[in-house]
Amino acid sequence: MINILITGGAGFIGSNFLNLFVPRHPEHNFINLDKLTYAANLLNLKGIENLPNYNFVQGDITDYNKVLEIFEKYNPDIVIHFAAESHVDRSILGPAAFIQTNIVGTFNLLEACRKYWFKSNHNKYRKLFHHVSTDEVYGSLYLNEKDLFTEITPYAPHSPYSASKASSDHLVRAYFHTYDLPVKITNCSNNYGPYQFPEKLIPLMILNAIEGKALPVYGEGENIRDWLYVEDHCEAIWTVIQKGRLGETYNIGGNNEWKNIDIVHKICEILARELNRDPYEFKKLITFVKDRPGHDLRYAIDSSKIKKELHWQPQETFETGLRKTVKWYLNNQKWVDSIQTGEYKNWLNYNYTNR
Ligand code: NAD
Ligand code: DAU
Repeated sequence: MINILITGGAGFIGSNFLNLFVPRHPEHNFINLDKLTYAANLLNLKGIENLPNYNFVQGDITDYNKVLEIFEKYNPDIVIHFAAESHVDRSILGPAAFIQTNIVGTFNLLEACRKYWFKSNHNKYRKLFHHVSTDEVYGSLYLNEKDLFTEITPYAPHSPYSASKASSDHLVRAYFHTYDLPVKITNCSNNYGPYQFPEKLIPLMILNAIEGKALPVYGEGENIRDWLYVEDHCEAIWTVIQKGRLGETYNIGGNNEWKNIDIVHKICEILARELNRDPYEFKKLITFVKDRPGHDLRYAIDSSKIKKELHWQPQETFETGLRKTVKWYLNNQKWVDSIQTGEYKNWLNYNYTNR
């Protein structure tokens, strides 16, 4: 039995990952270490919480003693590091938590791996630290730029969020080169799907539209992102863990670029179809608001390395994935209610008032 420590497993991508792999791999033991910030929700994990190969520990990765305690107790063979402060707008309004969790938290985990895994040389080669990172570390592309982000694109982060993730990537690579710590890194494009906290574009637009609230599009809605269904990202991470080379980085993307405004229109059209309404009832809610400071124009990933080397391919098209996602938010009112608490309402006021 392999012990797999997941950090941030009660968040969006971590919980999708656990929901896929805990039932699929009863021979492995999964430990979910999560601080349970505003972005976490244990309802995401209802389907697996009683499985014998799943354990939950509430804890903060910025607390080194807590991290050591978990290593001592669970003896992880693999660490899959999802935990992060993940929202760009929050990093602009309050960067301190991003520095703590994304940089110091990653450093603590690397230090714990070094301490526990290097007790014997033999031990270390059966271990793995998998770092989940983002395409935002590469900065921004121009509209007509042909060369997409590859694994050797120089880092050029523009927000406190992406700078903190870039910093954590550098630390992970430094531990590989300096200490021979067995690591792998994946840098993925924008994810969408069930359980995404509705501060992010797609779930925010779905829920606001259902409630007849304004759909706040930053600037002119011309910014472009490369969207990937969350389960395709999770499968890619598993593929890299199984077959990827140590010390390597693999970019993961959907080859699926969309302007924000076009996505908002698409969501309005899907909702209209699902609810038997006129799309204009939703589209008339679109409101152009003040742009995000330092807003990256375009992200687009070249994922040919993972495709050629490891034979990963996304399974979901944007048409099917977006429809599934809209239906999920329509059919999971209990989850939506659990999210729309005081903290969420405060965030909406904080970020969107006077924009
Ligand atoms: P999320 O914000 O939905 O979830 C983050 C989780 O980490 C939450 O459960 C939170 O409680 C936990 N957490 C935060 N601080 C913690 C701490 N100090 N100690 C322990 N747990 C803590 O994020 P997400 O969208 O699921 O992203 C997961 C990872 O994937 C992040 O590292 C992010 O940078 C990366 N990523 C996200 C996307 C995307 O589109 N969402 C794309 C590429 C990469
Ligand atoms: O590219 C990967 C990254 O994708 C991840 O690393 C981040 O964790 C994740 O949050 C996401 O970052 P973005 O900033 O691209 O995602 P967000 O959903 O916040 O915004 C997507 C686009 O939509 C972006 O161009 C800003 C715009 N937007 C966003 C919000 C919340 C709006 O126009 N209006 C909004 O209200």
